[in-house]
Amino acid sequence: MKLLVTGGAGYIGSTVATLLLEAGHEVVVLDDLSTGHEHTIPTGARLVRGRVHDLAGDLVTPEAGFDGVLHFAAFIAAGESVLAPEKYWENNVVGSLRLLDAVRAARVPRFVFSSTANIYGNPAELPIAESAVAAPPNPYAMSKVAVEYALIGDAGAHGLAAVSLRYFNAAGALVRPSGSCGERHDPETHLIPNALLVAAGRREKLALFGDDYPTPDGTCVRDYIHVADLAAAHLLALAAVQPGEHRVYNLGNGTGFSNREVIEVVRDVTEHPIPVEMAPRRPGDPAVLVASSAKARAELGWVPAKPALREIIADAWTFATQDRDDHDVTVAN
Ligand SMILES: NC(=O)c1ccc[n+]([C@@H]2O[C@H](COP(=O)([O-])OP(=O)(O)OC[C@H]3O[C@@H](n4cnc5c(N)ncnc54)[C@H](O)[C@@H]3O)[C@@H](O)[C@H]2O)c1
Repeated sequence: MKLLVTGGAGYIGSTVATLLLEAGHEVVVLDDLSTGHEHTIPTGARLVRGRVHDLAGDLVTPEAGFDGVLHFAAFIAAGESVLAPEKYWENNVVGSLRLLDAVRAARVPRFVFSSTANIYGNPAELPIAESAVAAPPNPYAMSKVAVEYALIGDAGAHGLAAVSLRYFNAAGALVRPSGSCGERHDPETHLIPNALLVAAGRREKLALFGDDYPTPDGTCVRDYIHVADLAAAHLLALAAVQPGEHRVYNLGNGTGFSNREVIEVVRDVTEHPIPVEMAPRRPGDPAVLVASSAKARAELGWVPAKPALREIIADAWTFATQDRDDHDVTVAN
């Protein structure tokens, strides 16, 4: 298939683009490099550099003949979105609507959307099923719900075959001799890469945001999914989507680890002490997010190959120690 990957210079988009190329698909990446990195784009993919808002209409035309779009391009920092909601509506919602305009006009049949477990807020029941009520606790998550609703509309009215994949915490790296895909957000808001920056001696200590949550050790509990397993689900979803349907799948391992437990595994894997400094809760951070991915397993035949947290962190550590990109990383919430 000929596929457009928006945000293909980012962490998850570049990983998915790599697997798509390995599976024999043709990949065009649309990315403005606002948070992504050009050298992360796998060899064989064509980069069109620019904003989704500006270029989707020119790129996604009937003549271009795209068979599908995988839409990763977004801003992703939930904490920042509380302080600057307009930035998230403009980039994540307006950009997605412009992209959908182009997809509709060009009659592109398939659309895979990067949604998030964050939309569940503080769910009543765990593990979280797709049927749980969406209660997005911050504008980032709200922007994702808004796009899911737009996809419901385009599936119903225009026959789009759409799928929203609600990721739990993506982590780890796709390690390849030709170049690995791993996490290098800037600012980095995620626990594992920030803990690894401390292990690598690039930061003195790790900020731990809140220890008064209603969890066994007071720190947030999250479900970590290996980015390669997450990426594999996109290929399965692309094959399974049906015209006129908007499907939703949770992607997680079904096991929750507290922040303190994660830090302990990072210490163990890296054999480095990770000094921790307590910080206040981040706005909009739910206490516990753990997935039921029974639906993705049953309907897509998705089976995570690397569910163990230790293995996820070991791959992230391999990437962190191989990463020759000498960029500076701002640690932020
Ligand atoms: N990382 C996670 O754990 C996680 C969890 C849930 C959902 N998601 C979603 O997955 C997607 C990818 O996340 P990621 O961690 O790879 O983030 P990332 O920041 O590494 O990648 C996003 C990419 O999109 C590009 N981009 C952003 N806005 C753009 C625009 N308007 N036009 C063109 N390019 C643009 C950036 O340059 C970047 O390359 C996002 O939609 C995010 O909301 C991520």
